[in-house]
Parts: sequence; C-alpha cells; structure tokens
Amino acid sequence: MTDADARTILEVSGLRKHFPIYGTLLKRKVGAVQAVDDVSFHIRQGETLGLVGESGSGKSTVGKLILRLIDPTAGEIHINGEDVTRAGSGRMRALRRDIQMVFQDPYASLNPRLSAGSIVAEPLHNYGEGSASEIEDRVKRLFLKVGLRPEAMAKYPHEFSGGQRQRLGVARALALEPELIVADEPVSALDVSVQAQVLNLLMDLQQEFNLAYLFISHDLAVVEHISHRVAVMYLGKIVELTDRETLFRDPQHPYTRALLSAAPVADPQVKRDRMILKGDIPSPINPPSGCRFHTRCPFVEELCRVEEPLLRDVAAEHSVACHLTDSA
Ligand SMILES: Nc1ncnc2c1ncn2[C@@H]1O[C@H](COP(=O)(O)OP(=O)(O)OP(=O)(O)O)[C@@H](O)[C@H]1O
Ligand SMILES: [Mg+2]
Repeated sequence: MTDADARTILEVSGLRKHFPIYGTLLKRKVGAVQAVDDVSFHIRQGETLGLVGESGSGKSTVGKLILRLIDPTAGEIHINGEDVTRAGSGRMRALRRDIQMVFQDPYASLNPRLSAGSIVAEPLHNYGEGSASEIEDRVKRLFLKVGLRPEAMAKYPHEFSGGQRQRLGVARALALEPELIVADEPVSALDVSVQAQVLNLLMDLQQEFNLAYLFISHDLAVVEHISHRVAVMYLGKIVELTDRETLFRDPQHPYTRALLSAAPVADPQVKRDRMILKGDIPSPINPPSGCRFHTRCPFVEELCRVEEPLLRDVAAEHSVACHLTDSA
C-alpha cells in the first residue's frame, strides 16, 4: 500500500479530448471522436495507478494529454498543484522534466541512429545538466541502475534484445529524475518471461526514487502485479476506480466484472462468475446514450439508457459509475 498522506503529484479533473471529424465535402466539422470524456483522478508520490480497458477506450489519449503531447478539449491537469493547461512555454519546459514517458515499442521510440549512451544522454544535454564528462558519468550510472552494462553505451538500439531496449527506454526516462512516469503498455511487446523482469525493475526503481507511475495496459495480470490503485476505462470514461485488492476481489461495475471474468485466474480457488460480454465496443463517435456500457450490460434497466451514471463513492476510496450499484 502507498502512504495515503503522500503528496499528490498529478491531479486530473474533467479531462476531455474530442477529436474533430471533418467531412470530405467543404471540410466542415461533422462530428467528433469522444476519446476521453470527463475523466478525473489523482496520483500520489510513489504510487502506481493502473489504467485498464479494451482497445479504443481512451487510455493512450489520457497519457498523451498528461504529457501535453496533445491539447485537451476541456479539463485541468495539475502537476504539483500547478495547472499545466495554462502554463506558458517556458514554465511548461520546466514542468515537462517532472513527467517522463516509456512507450510500448522502444524500437520505434528510440532513435536508431544514436548510440545507446547518446540516447540516454540526450535529455541531459537538452536541459544543460553538467559538462560532457559529468553527463557521461551520469549515463553510466543510469545504465547500471536499469541493469545494463556500461559497455552497452556504445551499442545501437538494434543490437539490443527487446527487454534490454525497454531498459534503455527506462534509463532515458529516468535521466532527468522525474517524479512521474507515464508508461503506455511498456511490457506488452515483450515475452512473458521478460515482462516480469521489466515490471520488477520498474517496481525497484519506484522504491528507490519514490517514483509515481501512470501504468497503461490492457493486460489485467500485469496491472494487478504492479498497481496500487486501478482505474477502469470504457469508451472514454472511468467506470470504476479503487485500490488493487478491492478491484480484483470485489469489482462492482458490470464492465469490470466482465473484464475480470474473461481474464485467466492464477488461483483456482478463486471462483468468479463467468460473464461474457456480448458485442464489440461501440464507436466513440456516437457513443450510446445514458450509460455508455448499456448496450452490452447484462443488467441493463430503462434508466441506464437515458441517464448517464456519475462516478460516485460506494465506499471509501472506491468509486463506481453505475445506476445499479448502491452508493456509500
Ligand atoms: N489523433 C486522433 N484522431 C482521431 N481519433 C483518434 C486519435 N487518437 C486516438 N483516436 C481515437 O480515440 C479513441 C481512443 O484511442 P486510444 O488510442 O486512446 O485508445 P487506447 O485505449 O489506448 O487503445 P489501445 O488499447 O488499442 O492502445 C479511439 O477510438 C481512437 O481511434
Ligand atoms: Mg493505447
């Protein structure tokens, strides 16, 4: 468990991202992809918030908004209390240091023409962090921290295995000593045996540097392994948010229960009701009215079709967006 008194690093409120769709004729806006719709959560120092959901539910878009790779349509993103959606470019540059990223495919995100050492040194050079020899020294220490040999600094990305490349991506993300790392499917491209090593590395680094993670994944087993709290997304909205133990032991939202029942269970003693989801995830262009999950929910009632359920507390630190779940 993380310390409930720990400082809040990231606070997101009412976050929205609607991507406009333009018609071929006259290039007029004809609609919008509601990729992220009214999302709120926070992350404390040293804590991992897992973000799960099916493909297209808006997980990566949330990550990109926090990293300010894209602008929100609405909402606020506070980093250490400061609203970054309002920060000027100079201030933004300073704030950017505090949040770094690790991607799914380190091969695509690491410059293939730079040596591994240069890749990790680049952010240090960009921010003028010391002389060339000081930077080289720091890069060497970063290599050791992530379990790479300093001799590997002279190699190029293609000479590394998938797991080593992801270690390199982690070393680069760590270089500026961030407080929060947004990791978008960081182990999804790796073999299962290598996944555990990289997850354990991330957890060790968290302990050592009191790092916070927003950990995005569609893989529930991975999320259960690494997260302190978990947010479940469906069609651009968070439908359930609570601590890891509660989510996996006592899920409340029908969508969470369906996701869990579809996932393999490590402990055969744990009996879960099988709940099969019918149909595909609907389009975020015209999301269903009322509760966005109502078209696939086995418990759907009339209210669900017309009124959108708000995310509300059903217990301490446990919120659910469902008309059929009793509130606290
Ligand atoms: N630049 C964009 N322009 C238009 N639509 C976009 C853009 N980026 C994402 N979308 C749409 O927004 C929705 C959410 O996408 P997002 O990539 O955030 O989902 P995801 O949960 O990360 O999915 P996955 O598990 O496949 O990575 C999808 O319908 C996607 O097609
Ligand atoms: Mg994604």
